[in-house]
Amino acid sequence: MFMTKISRRTFIGGSAAMAALLSTPEWAMALITQPYPRVKIANIKDLKVGEPVSFNYPDEQSPAILIKLGEKADGGVGPEGDIVAYSSICTHMGCPVVYSNKRFVCACHYSMFDPAKNGETFQGHASEWIPQVILRFEPRTGNIYAEGVEGLIWGRIRNILKSSKISNL
Ligand code: FES
Repeated sequence: MFMTKISRRTFIGGSAAMAALLSTPEWAMALITQPYPRVKIANIKDLKVGEPVSFNYPDEQSPAILIKLGEKADGGVGPEGDIVAYSSICTHMGCPVVYSNKRFVCACHYSMFDPAKNGETFQGHASEWIPQVILRFEPRTGNIYAEGVEGLIWGRIRNILKSSKISNL
C-alpha cells in the first residue's frame, strides 16, 4: 500500500486552506468553481472598430456585448489586443448598457464603464465594475470564444443558473 508522509506543517497549512475554503460564501465558491461553457462569439474578419456585437453569455438570460476598440485594452484579445466583451447589464440596478464612444453607458442613471480598463466604473451610481467576459482568440481560424466571466452579473448569486442553457454551444 502506498503511503505519503505528511509533515505537521503541511497538515496545518492544508487545514487552514480547507477552513478558508469552507468559510467562503456560496456565491464566491460558485465563481471559483463554475464550469463555464466555451462559446464561439464571432470571427475577427466580421468585426469593425467601434461596432458592437450583441450576444448572450453564459446563458440566454445574460446579454453581453463584444467590441473591437481599435486600441489595446486590459484583457483584450486578437492581434491588437483590442477585442473585449462585457455583460451589458448595469451593475447599479440592472438596466441595459449600450456601447457609445469608447465607453459603456447606462441610460437609467448614467453610470459609465471603461471597456479598455476591465469595465471600471468611472461615473454615476454604479460602484461595481461591469463583469468582463473572458475571451480567447484562435489565430488559426480567427474565431473568438467566450470562456468565462470575471465578476458577478447583476441580480445573481451565481453567474451560471442551474437550469440555464445556451443554444449556440
Ligand atoms: Fe444603471 Fe442605475 S441602473 S446607473
